[in-house]
Amino acid sequence: MFKVLQKTSLNLGQSEKKEKILVQGNKPLKGVIRTSGAKNAVLKQMAACLLIPAKVILKDVPPLQDVFRMIQIVEFLGGKCEFDLEKEVLQIDCSNLNGSYAPFELVSKLRASFVILGPLLTRMKSAKVSLPGGCQIGTRRIDLHEKGLRDLGAKISISHGYVEAECQPNGLTGCEMRLDIPSNGATENLMMAAVLAQGLTIIDNAAKDPEIEDLANFLNSCGAKIKGGGTDRIEIEGVKLDELHGTEYITLPDRIEAGTFLIAALATDGDVLIQNIVPEHLQSLLEKLEEIGGKIDCKENTIHICRAKPLRATEISTVWYPGFPTDLQAQLMALLTKAEGTSIIKENIYEDRFSHVQELVHMGADIQVNHNVAVMKGVEKLTGTQVLGGDLRATAGLVIAGLMAGGKTEVRGLNHLDRGYSHFTDKLIALGAVIERVSDSS
Ligand code: EPZ
Repeated sequence: MFKVLQKTSLNLGQSEKKEKILVQGNKPLKGVIRTSGAKNAVLKQMAACLLIPAKVILKDVPPLQDVFRMIQIVEFLGGKCEFDLEKEVLQIDCSNLNGSYAPFELVSKLRASFVILGPLLTRMKSAKVSLPGGCQIGTRRIDLHEKGLRDLGAKISISHGYVEAECQPNGLTGCEMRLDIPSNGATENLMMAAVLAQGLTIIDNAAKDPEIEDLANFLNSCGAKIKGGGTDRIEIEGVKLDELHGTEYITLPDRIEAGTFLIAALATDGDVLIQNIVPEHLQSLLEKLEEIGGKIDCKENTIHICRAKPLRATEISTVWYPGFPTDLQAQLMALLTKAEGTSIIKENIYEDRFSHVQELVHMGADIQVNHNVAVMKGVEKLTGTQVLGGDLRATAGLVIAGLMAGGKTEVRGLNHLDRGYSHFTDKLIALGAVIERVSDSS
C-alpha cells in the first residue's frame, strides 16, 4: 500500500461511504478561491511515470479518488508512491517495474487508466491491460489507441476483455500517423509510446488540449524529445530508456474546476475571483459567460467574474479544444435553466451525456431533449428537491442548480464528484455557500 503522509477526510474508499450534499440555495457566492492541479493532466503524468526509471516529484496533485486509484495501479506494476496530502506532492519512483499486466479490478475503476498501455508496452515490450469498459456518458471506444500502436509496430489482440500488446525485442518504431478524430486518450497513449520508439513519430490531428501540452512538457522535463504538444501535429523523437531521468514538475491548474466555479458564481449572482488559472484555457467558456450576462476580468493567472446584466439564453455546441468543452456542458446547462429566452445545447463528444436533464426538470427546469440536442426555456425559479448525479460533471451541475434553487436540495452521486473535485464543498463554503456534506442513511 502506498505511503500517505497525512490523512484527509478524502481517502481511498471514502466515496463508498454513503454521503450526500445538502445545499440551501439563493445565496450569492462571494470571495476568492484557488484552482487545484488538473485531474486530467495529473493522471496522465502518473501514467507517464511508468516510462521513467527514476524518482519523479509531482506538485499540486489534488487528493482525488481517481488519483488514489491511479496510485494503486502504479504500485501494482511495481512503482513506489508517496503522497503528501497536505502539501499535495506526489513522489513516484518507477526505477523497477515488476510486470506489465493491469487487471480488470483496477483498470475498470478508472477509465483514464487505459493510458498506461502505451508507456508499459514501450518500456516492457509487452503489456496486458484490461479494457476500460463503457461508462455512464457513452461507449468510449479505443480503436484509435489500437490502430496507432499497430502503426508503431505493435501486435495487438483483444480477447476476454483484455488488450494484449507486444512489440519486437528492439521496441516500437516511429512512424507518421493521423488520428481520425482528435481523441485526448489516443493522443496521450501514442505520444507516450513513441517516447521510447526508434526514430521519429508524427501524430497528425492530435488533440490540442492544454493537458496534452502539459504532458509533453512533463515528459520533456524527464529527457523526452517532444515538439508541438498542444498543437494538432506532435513530433516525438524517440530516446533510450537511460536518457530519461527524474524531475520535479508542477501540474497545470484545472480549467474545468475553475470553469465550474465561474459558472456557479454567475448562476448565484455572485462576485468571485479565481486564482491559479490560465485564462486562455477557458476562452470559449468566458465568451459564453459574457454573452449570457457575466462581466469578466482576466489577469495573467486570475479571472474575476460578476454579473453585468440579467441572464440571457444562448446556444452552445460541445467540440474539441479550443471549442466549448463537454466537461462544462452540465454546469452551463444548470446556469441556463434560469436564463431568459430559449437556449440550445448540442452535445457532440459523447452520445449520452444528458443524465442531469431529468434531475434539473425535477427542480423546475423546462428542458426537452432530442437525441444529442437539449432545448431549454428559461424559468423564473428552481425549487430544491432530491437529485442524483449520474457522472462527475452532472453531479457538479446539480450542485450549481441547488445553489440557484429556492429551499433545500439534496444531491447524491458523490462517488462521481469525488473523482474529480477536491475540497468541493469546502471551497463553496469559503465563498459563502450554505452547503454541507452529511452521511446518507436513507
Ligand atoms: C478525456 O477523456 C477526459 N478524461 C474526459 O474528461 C473528457 O471528457 C474527454 O477527454 C474529452 O475532452 C481524462 O482526461 C481522464 P477522448 P478521453 O479519447 O481521453 C471517442 C471528465 O469529466 N473515441 O477524447 O477518454 C470516444 O468514444 C472526463 O473529466 C473514439 O471514437 O476522451 C468519445 O466519444 C469525462 N475512439 C470521444 O472520442 C477512440 O479510440 C472523446 O474521447 C478514442 C475516443
